[in-house]
Amino acid sequence: MKVWMLLSLVVSPYVDCKNREKIMAQAKVKVGYDEVVPRDLTFDLNKDNVHKYWFNDDPWNTLWMTAVLAAVPEGERWVMRSAAMLLDKIDDPAVRQAGVDFCKQERIHAREHDVMNEISIEHGLPLDDIESTFVVIREFLKKNLSPEMQGALAASFEHFTAILSSVFLEYPEMFEDTEPEVVNMLFWHFVEETEHKAVSFDVFSHASGKGPLAYLRRVTAMATSSVVGVPGITAALVYLLWKDKQFTNLPSALKMLDTTLVRPGVMRHIVKLYFPYYRPSFHPWKDDNRDVIHVWKKSFDETGDAGAAFKALCDWHKNENPRKVGKSSAFSAIKAKFAIA
Ligand SMILES: [Fe+2]
Ligand SMILES: [Fe+2]
Repeated sequence: MKVWMLLSLVVSPYVDCKNREKIMAQAKVKVGYDEVVPRDLTFDLNKDNVHKYWFNDDPWNTLWMTAVLAAVPEGERWVMRSAAMLLDKIDDPAVRQAGVDFCKQERIHAREHDVMNEISIEHGLPLDDIESTFVVIREFLKKNLSPEMQGALAASFEHFTAILSSVFLEYPEMFEDTEPEVVNMLFWHFVEETEHKAVSFDVFSHASGKGPLAYLRRVTAMATSSVVGVPGITAALVYLLWKDKQFTNLPSALKMLDTTLVRPGVMRHIVKLYFPYYRPSFHPWKDDNRDVIHVWKKSFDETGDAGAAFKALCDWHKNENPRKVGKSSAFSAIKAKFAIA
């Protein structure tokens, strides 16, 4: 009896700790579901107020963003359909409801991005060629993969949209010379991508079960979408640069390299956020960036204005974000000391 009592005393902190982790993980998932709010917004986007080089008036920067955005409407339709196929296999009503709200959000995103891509086409960029390639890929995957594998691919696509959104939400100043209505649309989308960043993952996990096979499916899907998606987006960028005769625009190419590799270094940040997906214990809310979206949401709920919400987000980063305020003042001190312009 004494031995059992002693053993339970030794083991119980470990068990409690494990349970606590489990309960905390579950609690975070629930909090994540509470965030998902479909907002049926339409944006005043047209050829007259969205210039051809809408992203900081720079061709290379605009074209790499356009190459990414080219994949969005078809990608959104893919993830919606994949989630809808798995919903019947899910017992947890909270996950099912989150899946329904997720589909509502993605349907509205696809609609607004269709408009954005149509404007690029009107400006002479051949996005229709790129989009039709994505349709061919989508149809091939639909015919040849099981619903679970399609769900795993959707979860990997959602990881990419979540980490891209996370970087842009952290560095909104990189859009300071961008068409305001485009910024309003993009940041509404980044916020909602963050709100539902765990839904596709949880739909897949609940439908596919736990264990080594589910893990193998998940990481195989991520490896596949990386091997297909990253070269696909790069090829789309090269195609757009070639068609738009921008290959020799070296000053603009340097600006794009600055944005993607140095300031803020979008790709560097994305690589850091990408790899945790391969951990067996990965869950999207383990990277908890709700503080950022809460700033946008609070302002939007008060004003109903996506522009005011974007401004509130920028002000928060400048004055309150604990990850930035200390750093920027340290950097300012270094700049002052060495008289850096
Ligand atoms: Fe979306
Ligand atoms: Fe999404």
